[in-house]
Amino acid sequence: MGRSYNIVSIPGDGIGPEVNGCAVRVLEAVSQKYGFEPKITEYKAGGSAIDAYGVPLPGETLQAAQDSDAVLLGAVGGPRWDMIEAERRPEQAILGLRQGMHLYANLRPAILYKELGDVSPLKKPGNIDLLIVRELTGGIYFGKQGSYKSSEKLFDGTRKGNVAFDTESYSEAEISRILRRGFEFARIRGKKLTVVDKANVLVTSRMWRSLAREISEEFSDVELEFLYVDNCSMQLVARPSTFDVIVTSNMFGDILSDLAGQITGSVGMLPSASMGNPGMPGLFEPIHGSAPDIAGQNKANPIASILSVGLMLKLHLGEKDASDAITAAVRKTLAQGARTPDIALYGDEEEAKKITLVSTVEMTDRIIGNLE
Ligand code: IPM
Ligand code: MG
Repeated sequence: MGRSYNIVSIPGDGIGPEVNGCAVRVLEAVSQKYGFEPKITEYKAGGSAIDAYGVPLPGETLQAAQDSDAVLLGAVGGPRWDMIEAERRPEQAILGLRQGMHLYANLRPAILYKELGDVSPLKKPGNIDLLIVRELTGGIYFGKQGSYKSSEKLFDGTRKGNVAFDTESYSEAEISRILRRGFEFARIRGKKLTVVDKANVLVTSRMWRSLAREISEEFSDVELEFLYVDNCSMQLVARPSTFDVIVTSNMFGDILSDLAGQITGSVGMLPSASMGNPGMPGLFEPIHGSAPDIAGQNKANPIASILSVGLMLKLHLGEKDASDAITAAVRKTLAQGARTPDIALYGDEEEAKKITLVSTVEMTDRIIGNLE
């Protein structure tokens, strides 16, 4: 037998199982054409794991993920589990996997496919092809948090009552390794790196800036730009085509990647890769959430999940041809007019005539049919 990979599949909650199931089907189909074997085993995490085991990230799921070559994740969370105390919320599964697998680099490419016509909500989007490199295991999502009862008062005498806090904290080592990833990607792409921060307010951001300046000396071929995060969100709408690689902290990357997703048409189009040091297993998932409002209705867009398989094959398993085949099949399917509701919302009348509204499963069938 030729190349074989041990893949852990975690369907999750909401639309997670639907889109992840589609991704697995595409993986199986492309593997047959390109002569490798994915050995797929399924594990629970998120709300479904809370229901089955009482915890969002069972030990056996984390262990299997750590022992795998790669993890394919759907999405987790939903209103059913919203009232649970913080440590047992479904989102802890994703955060726990990222931390437990040391996945500090999150790559979120945002591309406006020409085949989608004018599906972008921007009037003149231009050619959008950018990569967000998000720090994934540090910052405020992993900093000290807590709550306490305060005896202090506001200026007018009102009692403060309970206080809750989260902490943004970053070490030089954490910042440097993610900045380096950013520079390396910029070097093989458009040679421009934008460091996004809030250096006019945050001391952590000032550390990002000074380390970026230092490291940039090793990357003299890469143009370095700094933007405050509020300005960056504006610039992403005003001049999206001028961005190449954006590197930023955990929370800013979370927010900006949803924005980048929507200006390329739909957040349902954006895949992501979470990676650690070379040789360690990676995790691949759509950037969108579990969308409980449309779960079980066969209308979610499976493309973000399917393109996540593409990222896994290209960036992680060295199966570039198979990955290119997936991208080509997605583009061809879009060019033929197939649209899930999220990408059928925009466009002029002429555009509208050429499109066919399809379900999650039908979109996947078509993509598989277009695999070459
Ligand atoms: C994402 C999601 C997660 C995050 C949530 C579900 C914890 O929004 O992957 O962008 O904030 O990282
Ligand atoms: Mg997010």
